[in-house]
Amino acid sequence: MNVLLIGSGGREHALAWAISASPRLTKLFCAPGNPGIAQVAECVSLDVADHNGVVAYCKDNAIELVVIGPEAPLVAGLGDDLRAQGIACFGPGKEAAQLEGSKAFTKELCDAASIPTAQYKSFANAADAKAYAAGHALPIVIKADGLAAGKGVAIATTQDEALGFIDECFGGKFGSAGASVVIEEFLEGEEASFFVVSDGKDILPLATAQDHKRVGDGDTGPNTGGMGAYSPAPVMTEEMIERTLKEIIQPTVDELARRGSPYQGVLYAGLMITAQGPKLIEYNVRFGDPEAQVLMMRANPAQVLDVLDAAARGTLNEAELDWSDDVALTVVVAASGYPGTPKKGGEIRGLEEASSGGSVEIFHAGTKRNDAGQLLANGGRVLNVTARGKTVADARDKAYAAIKKIDWADGFCRSDIGWRAIAREG
Ligand code: AMP
Ligand code: GLY
Repeated sequence: MNVLLIGSGGREHALAWAISASPRLTKLFCAPGNPGIAQVAECVSLDVADHNGVVAYCKDNAIELVVIGPEAPLVAGLGDDLRAQGIACFGPGKEAAQLEGSKAFTKELCDAASIPTAQYKSFANAADAKAYAAGHALPIVIKADGLAAGKGVAIATTQDEALGFIDECFGGKFGSAGASVVIEEFLEGEEASFFVVSDGKDILPLATAQDHKRVGDGDTGPNTGGMGAYSPAPVMTEEMIERTLKEIIQPTVDELARRGSPYQGVLYAGLMITAQGPKLIEYNVRFGDPEAQVLMMRANPAQVLDVLDAAARGTLNEAELDWSDDVALTVVVAASGYPGTPKKGGEIRGLEEASSGGSVEIFHAGTKRNDAGQLLANGGRVLNVTARGKTVADARDKAYAAIKKIDWADGFCRSDIGWRAIAREG
């Protein structure tokens, strides 16, 4: 089977790496891909916003399955446009992708299906939002409604902060994403992520993970897209997984099917494990980045393509995915300046030696090759050094040992990925 993967980050490199291990794969194409993906796929330049162009490319190249990595093309409806032309696609359509595209949509769906989540109210103007915030206990959580690359959320500990953030949202800081705002109660507990695949009716639970969003050691400093992750998440016991499936995931998939927009793809639930049990913080309609990297390191790669294909064709009840009992952990190596303006263009050497020790894979997130064939930094998050081990500490030690062998002057990473889970291991 010929497969087209859409995306260019570490998440897509991990997916490409797993897909390429399938005995059913004929050829993998990736648009636009990156130098790491180029080791296992043919990278092609396609304008992903031009849906007719993507459809034509699929027809010309006998693509039987399209796997969409990032959220933007899903929210833009690329999945619908492919399916309308008879091309199987892993990734939800525009309507179901509103689970990530609009926080108000998700909150309303939670109400409709009695899904546990933070209490909330939605607002379309600053005056009403401020009046509500003024009477609310602190801390209070304020979110721009639409896609804001992880930056549209404030956890305000003072009234001034809350009112200031509301002004920023309605003042256009997040563009149209801030044209409406959700204000919600602050949930206490430990965060975890849970990933499932659905074909619109059946659900295949994948695995759990935890990430580190802050740039600095000890979970300090500004938020990022994620500086590291590990799987499984110790807080997600069998009981919590069962409750999450029954109380959150199944009702979501059922409600979307009832509304005529069945969910086909991976559903990523961001959860708070509270004293009352799991509560939904947010949904994403794609794999996490860098969570996909640790998931793919634990999954049996030979089966991954079968699962993606079965979800796209509505035959998930026949699919299986085996998981290693090992822990996987990934450390993001970022370019100095990130999450502000990263330093680009520095040469990276030593990746082959760094990943030669076994149980280590280095996924490319933001790299490019110049005409001379040198590998250069080309983004904020640049490399995902990912290791498997018997324990979180073991996987961490392997990942950091590999990082020591990488020769790149501008790179930095957190030194404490996995600390919470390692503290539990004792
Ligand atoms: P979101 O973009 O909705 O995932 O929010 C970003 C981060 O803000 C989450 O990963 C949580 O750490 C935090 N957060 C969001 N909503 C809440 C809430 N209601 N209570 C506590 N923390 C929250
Ligand atoms: N690592 C968080 C995300 O992918 O949204």
